[in-house]
Amino acid sequence: MHVVVQKSAEAVARAVADILVEAVARQPALVLGLPTGRTPIGLYRELVARHRDRRIDFGQVTAFNIDEFVGLPSGHPGTYAVYMAHHLYRHVNLSPKRIHLPASDARDPRKEAQRYEGAIRAAGGIDLLVLGIGSNGHIGFNEPGASLVADTHVARLAPATRRSNADAFGGDVRRVPGQGITMGTGTLLRARHVVLMAMGNQKANVVARALEGPITTKVPASLLQAHPNVTVVLDRAAAAKLST
Ligand code: PGA
Repeated sequence: MHVVVQKSAEAVARAVADILVEAVARQPALVLGLPTGRTPIGLYRELVARHRDRRIDFGQVTAFNIDEFVGLPSGHPGTYAVYMAHHLYRHVNLSPKRIHLPASDARDPRKEAQRYEGAIRAAGGIDLLVLGIGSNGHIGFNEPGASLVADTHVARLAPATRRSNADAFGGDVRRVPGQGITMGTGTLLRARHVVLMAMGNQKANVVARALEGPITTKVPASLLQAHPNVTVVLDRAAAAKLST
């Protein structure tokens, strides 16, 4: 793992944007895996600004979101589709036919998960995966537990995950769906390059457990220790509990 510590959350966003800009310049038809949550908002702001300055061209890029809620109508403000349109997709020249999220309103979510896994494979897999980390150690909706699932699947969301998503549901955790469709840990680990970003002191403990603790299904992000090409970009607060 290559760990980079930046002085601020803004510097983390700029450093990850640099990685994306360089990767797309090298490989214009890059396949991206993209996260939601609070962590990547600054990154998306950077990417929109750089696209406006013609420093990044998304014309041939393909994007797959890591996860999406189950059981929300299309266009619901809590969906990650709406989040992505708001923060990134509406502002850059990604072709709508190359933007992928699991359908939140699929009649058969398990079939939808299988379709999504197939679409990722048909695109040749993910070249560059940007990941956040949940304060419980989850990646995507792969929650801590006794076991993990390799492929894209329907997952039950941990109470902590539902709580941290409540803002988009009027602050009412009971309105946050109990299930999501998520890339599995195998899908995530098949990405050729993984960039994990984390900011703030509330992530310091879990970052240390993920990077320096045992590889365990209790901290799904710890599986990244076994991936050959991971870049971790942290601010000082999120790096505070690392031993080195
Ligand atoms: P956050 O969520 O960016 O809102 O902290 C990260 C995650 O759950 O992956």
